Amino acid sequence: MAQERPYLYVRGVSKHYDTAPDPRLGSGGLRVLDNISFTAKQGEFVTIVGPNGCGKSTFFRMLSDLEDMDYGKILIGGKTIEEAKIGYVFQNYRESLYPWRTCLGNLMVPLELDGVPRRERKKKVDEFLWRLDMSVREDAYPYELSGGQQQMLGILRALIYEPDILLLDEPFSSLDFQTTLYMHDKIMEVWEKTGVTTLFISHNIHEAVYLADKVVVFSKRPARVVEVIETKLPRPRDYKVTESDQFFEVRNRVMELFRDEIMDSFLFMELSGF
Ligand SMILES: Nc1ncnc2c1ncn2[C@@H]1O[C@H](COP(=O)(O)OP(=O)(O)OP(=O)(O)O)[C@@H](O)[C@H]1O
Ligand SMILES: [Mg+2]
Repeated sequence: MAQERPYLYVRGVSKHYDTAPDPRLGSGGLRVLDNISFTAKQGEFVTIVGPNGCGKSTFFRMLSDLEDMDYGKILIGGKTIEEAKIGYVFQNYRESLYPWRTCLGNLMVPLELDGVPRRERKKKVDEFLWRLDMSVREDAYPYELSGGQQQMLGILRALIYEPDILLLDEPFSSLDFQTTLYMHDKIMEVWEKTGVTTLFISHNIHEAVYLADKVVVFSKRPARVVEVIETKLPRPRDYKVTESDQFFEVRNRVMELFRDEIMDSFLFMELSGF
């Protein structure tokens, strides 16, 4: 049987940074990504978890061609990263929205960059929001919105560009618990309606399992892929799934791998009297 070609193909992505020589280590290079390889099907929701500073955001910068990799290959729907349209929502959303533009003005940015004529932009935004059953306070400025609303605006702005892939870097990590729960269901709703292939970096293992079709666990730096776990949880999904045996099983496995990776830092904290 012919093997299905993966939509997202990541093979051997490696990266180091040149840094000032460290007198203890003697070398001037920081290895960040070590041979990262995994695949995703079109329309899949993939979460990435890994220890602090292991190289997750660096990996997104490689994927979106903001920085060069040392070696490796990435294909998205058969396109190279230079050819593919990437929707990237940065880790710090407060810095990614334009504060001098209204919500409508922010949503129009990708259309402007895509060369959509001025008079068609508003119609496109309206159609897009209607399709997703979403509304925004068009004339409000980002500072007038709650954190959750700002983050959703950033996500919508990335989606209106109709990206081949959506990259979300810890999008909910600075929101309160209640808003985060709401945003989990909202992002799944938006994802289901657009069908966009999504990569989502998370620090929160519960979140990573709840949202994912597939969880990719990164090791400590230099990051390798330790394991890829298919959650096999049903869709559409709501919080009830988090009470199922299947959810516990996957969450425990991810937790176990994560703990193994951060054991050294636990040990360090114990030895240094934390
Ligand atoms: N331009 C750079 N030059 C040198 N080192 C860098 C550069 N960018 C990132 N690093 C280092 O690379 C490592 C990985 O950083 P990165 O931001 O990718 O980690 P992360 O997994 O996203 O971390 P976090 O969990 O805190 O978001 C860190 O040690 C960081 O200090
Ligand atoms: Mg990061």
